[in-house]
Amino acid sequence: MDYQLVRLSQEPHFAETCAAWVYGEWRCQRKEASYPKVLAYLQSAGQPESDLFECWVAVQDWRPLGMACLKRVEHVDRLDLSPWLGSVYVHPEFRGGGLAHALIAQVERQAVEEYGAKECYLQTGIPAFYVDAGWEDIGRVRDTRGLNKDGWVLMRKSL
Ligand SMILES: CC(C)(COP(=O)(O)OP(=O)(O)OC[C@H]1O[C@@H](n2cnc3c(N)ncnc32)[C@H](O)[C@@H]1OP(=O)(O)O)[C@@H](O)C(=O)NCCC(=O)NCCS
Repeated sequence: MDYQLVRLSQEPHFAETCAAWVYGEWRCQRKEASYPKVLAYLQSAGQPESDLFECWVAVQDWRPLGMACLKRVEHVDRLDLSPWLGSVYVHPEFRGGGLAHALIAQVERQAVEEYGAKECYLQTGIPAFYVDAGWEDIGRVRDTRGLNKDGWVLMRKSL
C-alpha cells in the first residue's frame, strides 16, 4: 500500500478525523469525555506544554488511513511510566495491510530519537497484537471508565 506517515502537528487538518476515531473508539462511554475535548487534546500535539508528544497519521493522497500517538502520560495510576504508545487506530477499510505496525514502529522511532527513551509503555485489551511487535506483558491497569472489571494489560517494550 502506498502511503506516508505525517505528523498531526504539521498537518493539523487531519485533527477532526483523528478526534472522531478516538472519541468513537475509546472516549464516548466516558461521562466526562466530549468530542471537543478530544479534538483540543489532539490539536495540542507537539506543543511544548502538551502531554501529547505527537500523533502520527498514515495518509494516502488526501485520505487519512490510520493514526498512533506518542504520549508523555496515559494512565492516571501510572504517572511513574513514560512515554506511552496510544490511540493506535486504522480505518476498517485499510486494516490487515501492516499499517498499524508501521505506525507503531514510527512512534517507537520518535520515542528513541527525540526523547531518548529506552522503554515505552501501552495499555490494551488485545495484547497478542503487540506481542508480535516485540512488546511484553508486565501486569494490569484499571479501566478508569469502570466498564471492564479485569482492566487492561500493561505492556512494555525495550527500545
Ligand atoms: C488493531 C488494529 C489497529 C490493527 O490495524 P491493522 O492495520 O489491521 O494491523 P496490521 O495490518 O499492522 O497487523 C495485522 C495483524 O494484527 C493482527 N490483529 C489485528 N487485530 C487484532 C486483534 N484484535 N487481536 C490480535 N491480533 C490482531 C492480525 O491478525 C494481523 O496478524 P498477521 O499479520 O499475523 O496476519 C485495527 O484493527 C484497529 O484500528 N482496531 C480498532 C482500534 C484498536 O483496537 N486499537 C488497538 C487498541 S490498543
